[in-house]
Amino acid sequence: MSSPKPIKKAVFPVAGLGTRFLPATKAIPKEMLPIVDRPLIQYAVDEAREAGIEQMIFVTGRGKTAIVEHFDVAYELEDTMRERGKDLGVLESSRFVPGDIITVRQQVPLGLGHAIWCARAIVGDEPFAIFLPDELMIARQGGGTGCMKQMVDAYAQTGGNLISVLEIPRDQVSSYGVIDPGAQVSDTLTEVTGLVEKPPVDQAPSNKIVSGRYILQPEVMRVLEDQEKGAGGEIQLTDAMARMIGTQPFHAVTFDGRRYDCGSKTGFVEATLALAMEREDMGDEVRAIARRLLG
Ligand code: G1P
Repeated sequence: MSSPKPIKKAVFPVAGLGTRFLPATKAIPKEMLPIVDRPLIQYAVDEAREAGIEQMIFVTGRGKTAIVEHFDVAYELEDTMRERGKDLGVLESSRFVPGDIITVRQQVPLGLGHAIWCARAIVGDEPFAIFLPDELMIARQGGGTGCMKQMVDAYAQTGGNLISVLEIPRDQVSSYGVIDPGAQVSDTLTEVTGLVEKPPVDQAPSNKIVSGRYILQPEVMRVLEDQEKGAGGEIQLTDAMARMIGTQPFHAVTFDGRRYDCGSKTGFVEATLALAMEREDMGDEVRAIARRLLG
């Protein structure tokens, strides 16, 4: 097989209302809530850049302008910081080459599949990545790589479509997309023979869930075009992907690293604690605080 086209574009569906975090998310997007000192969206964008992705496509909605502001040059702020001799390095990861941050709007909340479809004109005829920023994927400490980098490396072998998966307790699978695993290709790579969105526990084909990172071929946009509503009355990306199985290679990568479900409040707190504890500049202090609180 000739090597597949590199992945240069990523879609970030960020139009959701974030109702689970109200009132915090009344005036700011949930993707701007910080884990320590980086907004959630920044972690996903950093993971994309590490994987060689250059163009970030945000599918936004009303009230989400702060996300775009975040990745813009903050003129006055930078000027003032310069005047005061402050280090501008902290802003580095939120700077972008002009034109590499693109937004489209999802005017009506019809589901994840519909959100992705809204980016079809910008994605064009290339394979692309998708990041669900609620799912915070953190590289293994001491030299591990991010989830999308691991997927891009696997994709160089497999081509086709790839999703990240992880195993969770079986009684929790009905909140997620679940795969029917086929042949095991390696320790971390398996074929996908079926996909179902939010199945009842007793009908789930496995306990391996779709964990918010995808590399998909552009044909998925045409499949989404006439995708009917599925679980929760929404147009589901999982259903469109399921229809592609058999027409193109489809694999799942188990991420070697950690995942925090920042769509839930407890997952968000866990991520905050874990990442604060391992920071060089504050880890000791935060651990001491945690011990005191438990004590
Ligand atoms: C979405 C996807 C689901 C996936 C999940 C991961 O569901 O539809 O397949 O497992 O994200 O977080 P949502 O959380 O939007 O209901």
